[in-house]
Amino acid sequence: MEYIQLDNSDLSVSRICLGCMGFGDNTKGLHSWILDQEATNDIVQQALKAGINFFDTAISYAEGTSEMYLGKALALFANREDIVVATKFMPRTEEERANNVTAREHIEQSLNASLDHLGMDYVDLYIYHMWDYHTPMEEIMDALDAMVKAGKTRYIGISNAYAYQIATANAYAKHHHQSQFISIQGHYNLIFREEEREMNPFASENNIALTPYSALASGRLSRLPGAQSTRLASDQIAKSKYAASADQDDAIVQRVSKIAEKYQVSMTEVSLTWLLTKVAAPIVGATKPHHIDGAVNAVSLKLSEADIHYLEELYTPHPLVGVMANNH
Ligand SMILES: NC(=O)c1ccc[n+]([C@@H]2O[C@H](COP(=O)([O-])OP(=O)(O)OC[C@H]3O[C@@H](n4cnc5c(N)ncnc54)[C@H](OP(=O)(O)O)[C@@H]3O)[C@@H](O)[C@H]2O)c1
Repeated sequence: MEYIQLDNSDLSVSRICLGCMGFGDNTKGLHSWILDQEATNDIVQQALKAGINFFDTAISYAEGTSEMYLGKALALFANREDIVVATKFMPRTEEERANNVTAREHIEQSLNASLDHLGMDYVDLYIYHMWDYHTPMEEIMDALDAMVKAGKTRYIGISNAYAYQIATANAYAKHHHQSQFISIQGHYNLIFREEEREMNPFASENNIALTPYSALASGRLSRLPGAQSTRLASDQIAKSKYAASADQDDAIVQRVSKIAEKYQVSMTEVSLTWLLTKVAAPIVGATKPHHIDGAVNAVSLKLSEADIHYLEELYTPHPLVGVMANNH
């Protein structure tokens, strides 16, 4: 495994982050394909053995049970100081707004609940999961800074935002000598490359680390078009992100397969190696032991400039999908 320091922080993370949305109680939340505690333990233990030290979860995953299962697994197999744990908070709910729960109260309560779920007294990275149009940015940044000062999180990050939103928030924080976002978790993979318009150059110029999600397009970049899996068949959110562009994307997925054949490696490795040329640490969802192997092997694979051009050549701009389609 290779490690990289997230810019503007002292967090040293594995080049692969383990996405933990696939852990939790499958009777809660949106996903029926997620793993119970025992299976979570196996995946987390395997990830740690492979050198993965970076874990991404959220309070919204399976109603907090992803955090719980992850926390229990990490307590069994890892020392707290050896791992980097990221979790996320949601916007204030309509009910909280009606009850005048402030941004500070909302964020502190969310973080306290996450820490309780994880069985930890701090997280390393606390991530603003999606933009809250009902709460002033200034109040959110003040509250996040207070969480850093209270020692409940070491750093803050952001997900599902436009570059201008992050730039504005970080400028506010800088002006007030507060913590700024050190990482950006956007939706980015070979068949969804809208982050390249503004986010990648913005992050590069400002030394903000990119840690994208759905690095394998929720499994589409790991197998030939038409091949099925339990998750592909049942994950309605992933379907909503990729169904409309499937015809166009399939040609790119075929090219991933051609490069995989050339190097006698898996399509997962090719897809992730490509992304590793662009970002600090992609987040990979793993729910089977062999998923970890594929992700880890990607770190040592090398692609030529010609391979990269071949993989990128067919892409044309896509409309925003998923959470970003509702960022307005
Ligand atoms: N911030 C956000 O809004 C947001 C949104 C979504 C996700 N996330 C984060 O990103 C993580 C990953 O998201 P994701 O699960 O959508 O994305 P992903 O990493 O693109 O897809 C994971 C899927 O890829 C397949 N896969 C993974 N490794 C493989 C391997 N070695 N060989 C073959 N197939 C492999 C599996 O599909 P099958 O199960 O079909 O085999 C797996 O379920 C989440 O756990 C979460 O932490 C964040």
